[in-house]
Amino acid sequence: MTRPRSVAFLLTAKPTIEGAGVRLNRVFGNPEVPRFDPFLLLDDFGSKNPEDYLAGFPSHPHRGIETVTYMLSGKVEHGDSLGNEGVIGAGDVQWMTAGSGIIHQEMPQQAEDHLRGLQLWVNLPAASKMMAPRYREVAADSIPEVSPHDGLRIKIIAGEVVGVHGPVEDVVVEPQYLDITLEPGADLEHPTPTGHTVFAYCLSGRGKVGPRRTHELERGQLALFTEGASISAVACDVPFRFLLISGKPLGEPIAWSGPIVMNTREELATAFREYQEGTFIKSDSS
Ligand code: FE2
Repeated sequence: MTRPRSVAFLLTAKPTIEGAGVRLNRVFGNPEVPRFDPFLLLDDFGSKNPEDYLAGFPSHPHRGIETVTYMLSGKVEHGDSLGNEGVIGAGDVQWMTAGSGIIHQEMPQQAEDHLRGLQLWVNLPAASKMMAPRYREVAADSIPEVSPHDGLRIKIIAGEVVGVHGPVEDVVVEPQYLDITLEPGADLEHPTPTGHTVFAYCLSGRGKVGPRRTHELERGQLALFTEGASISAVACDVPFRFLLISGKPLGEPIAWSGPIVMNTREELATAFREYQEGTFIKSDSS
């Protein structure tokens, strides 16, 4: 017996300024803790106007989390305290585990037309917060796309669909990260792990979600689902492109300040003190 998930609530992304003055849309963040556990934040950034993003995100630390950057168009250059540097281009994903700490910069590059990307923050459990940092650079052409039936395409970044696995594996919260496109009239029934947090975020077009397709989503809107075993969705009169993301809740206390997320205020204070003193980066991380 599979019990479909209902919609707990809808959220609409709100304009925010972050980094050195980047205009972006925050879908959820600190005020929503712990409704999205194990996820902490989702930002939808980009614009046709380079002035909205070129200031970028100069040197800043992260500890205790993973940041997942998915570029839809345009590119972001990154470089960090471990000597890693590169470019995340259209369709690429960077799944970065900050663990014990990295100091990096993320600088969107001027796009000919529209720059757009998403950044998701995934929490780490206490046992992994101080793990060695780790990068996974996933090129667009290594992300499999499946079409289980007409009018449905699914890019699998993490998780499994019809026996096909995404390239990002071995993450503590067992995430599913899917980029789904439904053509008008096409629908989707998709199993989701029981007990996991599940949400859908509309990238473009319009569709309906929920067991009786009661909740309409358009660009910039998110639906958080209740408990259950599956979700369903259907496109309206235009193609419906959305992210379907799920993960296993950690159920741990959250102490969060800016780019650092730990379990206790003492751990946060330690992190900021180490950053000030220049001992933030751990020698066993390099
Ligand atoms: Fe960052």
